[in-house]
Amino acid sequence: MHIKALKGFKDILPQEAALWQHIEGRARDIFQRFGYREIKVPILEKTGLFARSIGETTDIVEKEMYSFADRNGESLTMRPEGTASVLRSFIEHNLHSERPLQKLYTMGPMFRHERPQKGRLRQFHQMSVEALGVDRPELDAEIMAMAWMLLVDLGLKVSLEINSLGCQECRPLFNKALLKFLADSKGELCPDCERRQEKNPLRVLDCKNAKCQAHYVNAPVILDYLCSDCAAHFQVVEDCLRDLNIDYKVNSFMVRGLDYYTRTTFELITHDLGAQSAVGAGGRYDGLIAQLGGPALPGIGFALGMERLVLLLTADGGEAPGDIIDIFLAALGPAAGRRAFAMLHALRLQGLRAVMDYTSRSLKSQMKQAARCGSRFTLIMGDDELSSGRAMLRDMASHEQREIELSADLRAWSKAVAEIIS
Ligand code: HAM
Repeated sequence: MHIKALKGFKDILPQEAALWQHIEGRARDIFQRFGYREIKVPILEKTGLFARSIGETTDIVEKEMYSFADRNGESLTMRPEGTASVLRSFIEHNLHSERPLQKLYTMGPMFRHERPQKGRLRQFHQMSVEALGVDRPELDAEIMAMAWMLLVDLGLKVSLEINSLGCQECRPLFNKALLKFLADSKGELCPDCERRQEKNPLRVLDCKNAKCQAHYVNAPVILDYLCSDCAAHFQVVEDCLRDLNIDYKVNSFMVRGLDYYTRTTFELITHDLGAQSAVGAGGRYDGLIAQLGGPALPGIGFALGMERLVLLLTADGGEAPGDIIDIFLAALGPAAGRRAFAMLHALRLQGLRAVMDYTSRSLKSQMKQAARCGSRFTLIMGDDELSSGRAMLRDMASHEQREIELSADLRAWSKAVAEIIS
C-alpha cells in the first residue's frame, strides 16, 4: 500500500530546502549581530512543562497538543512552541549564573493539532528567540528591531503591531472590568468564552469565533488600565522604536494565544497570506521563569514561522532559488567516465561544487541535466578529447566555450580549473 505523509505534515523537497537554508542563514547572521547564540533543545518534553507555561485555558493546551503516554505511562508532549523548552533548559543548566543577559535562539519543528490550511500546518517550523534576564524596554525595542531587520533583509514587507498586557499589579484591574463587560454579555458568547472567562478572562479576547470577535470590539481596552510602571515601560518601547525608524501600530486588542505574556506583546503581520496573517509574534514574559521553578528573572522573545516566510518569498510565483552547482562533468564514453570520476573528487577538494550523473547518456541529455541543476559551467569530455588531452569548458550563462588541458596531476589541474571559473 502507498503510504502518504500525515495530514498537516509536509515534506520540504530539495528545491524548497535551498530557500529554507537561505532564510536560516540570513537569520543566523542577523541573530549573531545582536549577540544571540544557538541552543538546541529536545522535541519531546513532559506535558506539564507546556500546561504550566502556555496556560491550561489556551487553545494550544486544551485542543492542539500531541500528547501521549510513553511506555512508562508518563505523559509526554511534542513541543507546540519553543519558549517553554528553552526556559526549562535555561533553568536546568543555571544559564543565568553565566551572564546577566542570556540571548538564545533555536530553530526547529513544532507540533499543533490545528485544522490545516494555507500557512497553517500540524508540523511547522519556528525560528524562536529569547532574551533572558533583563527587563529594560530598550531590549523590547531591540528584539523587535532584530525581527524587523531580518524581514527587511529577506525583502519582505510586513507591519509591526504592538500592545501591552500589563503586569500582576494592573492586569487584575483590567480583568475586573472585562469580567463586568462579559457578565453584561451573557448569552452572546460562545461556550469556550463562557467557560474560559472564569479562569483567565483575557483569554476570551483571543477567541476565533466571528460573533464573539464582533462583540469584543466594545470591550474595555487594556492600555487604559496599565499601572504607571507598565505605562512608562510601554512609552519607552514606543520611543525606542521611533528612534530606530521602525514603523509600528498599537493594536490594543492583541492578546496572543499563550498565557505567559506580560507587558509588551507584538505581531508581525502580512496581508498576503489570507487568514494566517502573523509571520511572527512574541512578547515579554516576566513571570514565566519563576513560574517554571527558576529564579525571578524577566524575559522576552518571539518566533517566526518558517512556512509562512517561505510562502511569502515564493508568493509572486517566484521560484525558490535552485541548487547551485559550480561545474557539471559531462563524460561521454566509458574511459572518460572513469577519468571524470577522479577529476570530480579533485575539484571538490578545491572547494568547488562539482557533480556528474554517471549515466554516460548523450551529450544533449547531460547538458539538459547540467542546466537543471543550475550548473555555472560544464566540462565536456568524450573518449576522443581524453586521448587528445583536452576537454571543452562551457560557460552555461554566456554559452562561451574554451578548451582546457587535461593533466595527470589532478591537484594542479583542479587548482587551475578553480581559478578559471572562480
Ligand atoms: P505563536 O504566536 O504561537 O508564538 O507562534 C509564532 C509564529 O509561529 C506565528 O506567528 C506563525 O508564524 C508560526 N505558527 C504558529 N502556529 C503555526 C502553524 N500551525 N502552522 C504554521 N506556522 C505557525 C509562539 O510560539 C511563542 N513561543 C513565540 C515567543 C517566543 N514568544 C516569546 N518567545
